[in-house]
Amino acid sequence: MSAGVTRIGLLGCGTVGGAVVRALSRNGDTIARASGHRLEMGPILVRDVSRPRPGVDPSLLTDDPARVLDDPGVAMVVEVMGGLDPALDYLRRALEAGKPVVTANKQLLSREGPRLLEIAERSGTELRFEASACAAIPVIKVLRESLLAAEIQAVTGIVNGTTNYMLTEMARAGLSYDDALAQAQELGYAEPDPTEDVNGADAAAKMAILASIAFHARVPFDAVPYEGIDTLTAEDVGLAAELGFVVKLLGIARLVNGSVTVRVHPTLVPEGHRLAAVSGADNAVLLESDTAGEIMLLGPGAGGPETASAIVADILSILGTHRGSFLHNALADAGRPVLPPAEVTSAFYLRLSVADRPGVLANVASIFGEEQLSIRTVVQKGEGDGARLVLVLHPGVEGRLLSAVGRVAALAEVRDRPVVLRVLGSGDDG
Ligand SMILES: NC(=O)c1ccc[n+]([C@@H]2O[C@H](COP(=O)([O-])OP(=O)(O)OC[C@H]3O[C@@H](n4cnc5c(N)ncnc54)[C@H](OP(=O)(O)O)[C@@H]3O)[C@@H](O)[C@H]2O)c1
Repeated sequence: MSAGVTRIGLLGCGTVGGAVVRALSRNGDTIARASGHRLEMGPILVRDVSRPRPGVDPSLLTDDPARVLDDPGVAMVVEVMGGLDPALDYLRRALEAGKPVVTANKQLLSREGPRLLEIAERSGTELRFEASACAAIPVIKVLRESLLAAEIQAVTGIVNGTTNYMLTEMARAGLSYDDALAQAQELGYAEPDPTEDVNGADAAAKMAILASIAFHARVPFDAVPYEGIDTLTAEDVGLAAELGFVVKLLGIARLVNGSVTVRVHPTLVPEGHRLAAVSGADNAVLLESDTAGEIMLLGPGAGGPETASAIVADILSILGTHRGSFLHNALADAGRPVLPPAEVTSAFYLRLSVADRPGVLANVASIFGEEQLSIRTVVQKGEGDGARLVLVLHPGVEGRLLSAVGRVAALAEVRDRPVVLRVLGSGDDG
């Protein structure tokens, strides 16, 4: 099958837009195999065309929105400029012209979503917005496709990474609100102007979008009362911990007797609750439904490449994967070999029962050394007239480990068959 060419016009090329350009260029072959469409980038609307942008062809940049919106050669528009004005006007124009639109703009979607969706419907085109809530986490797709028939009863989310990072540090290191905010800004988790993060408005916009999808309702931003963490003190976080709670900025959306309620506020979450364990800048959404039980989605809720991943997914959903489906089409074969199990790298735990004689550990260690495996930890425990030897090895190649274990098992001092378990950790791929 030869891929047809689809041109993508981009509105904005900042943190997210730049990552979209790079992701589309990196994944061009995969997208073509999956969808039957080869994507072509440009034109790209920015304010400052003279600023260099890594991985972006400067000849595609323009400061004239008509080049993106009125070019009949542009088949799809991706909006990553943010804000309400002029984004609303641009999206309206694109949709009215029958072009599918993908956006990451939560402010716009939570206020004008229904109006834009109506235009899309009237024009026989699509508006997709996975990246507008929780970036890389595919929560909107799960709600609108995978759980369509599950009758969602509640959506409870940590949907703002900045405040979750701050609350984690206030609890863990006893940081004051101001110090936690300064640290979040230093690490790039908070915008230079973090007002909408800390006052809860960002989370309220995302919850309005999620509740609308989950409950098949129209929940505008204005219908979501919100409180932020800007009045919270380290003292309250500490006292809550003494009482067995973790303070989280939660978005809570519920179906109560057929009505929808959505709100955002700092909430004391019992320590054992699965949302209490969500730390740092991560986002998590707990979906409760009648028929599918509880499902929790967790992952990065911000960042250029993370948000771009959701945008690429939306582009693929619009193009459709049926023509070149990964599972059903030979073209989906990217020609990747399958690694033989013996070549997989992993860290290992080993338990040996040995006779308590001098030099046993040295013999074992020298076998591992010869097989290029290094020992991270050794614990030796007396066991009657023998000893129990527990070793944790640094990541090594499985084939060498098996060969080493065979040689160790054959040592006269080793009594039983060694027990081998794999250890999950950095540096392994097993
Ligand atoms: N950053 C994240 O982690 C994240 C996560 C989820 C969702 N989002 C959403 O993604 C969108 C983009 O965020 P971002 O962080 O990529 O923003 P950004 O870095 O500030 O980039 C905005 C881009 O839009 C362009 N732009 C803005 N206003 C314009 C105008 N009036 N005319 C022409 N170009 C204009 C800017 O041009 P110049 O480059 O010339 O200034 C810039 O390229 C926002 O809706 C945001 O809420 C972001």
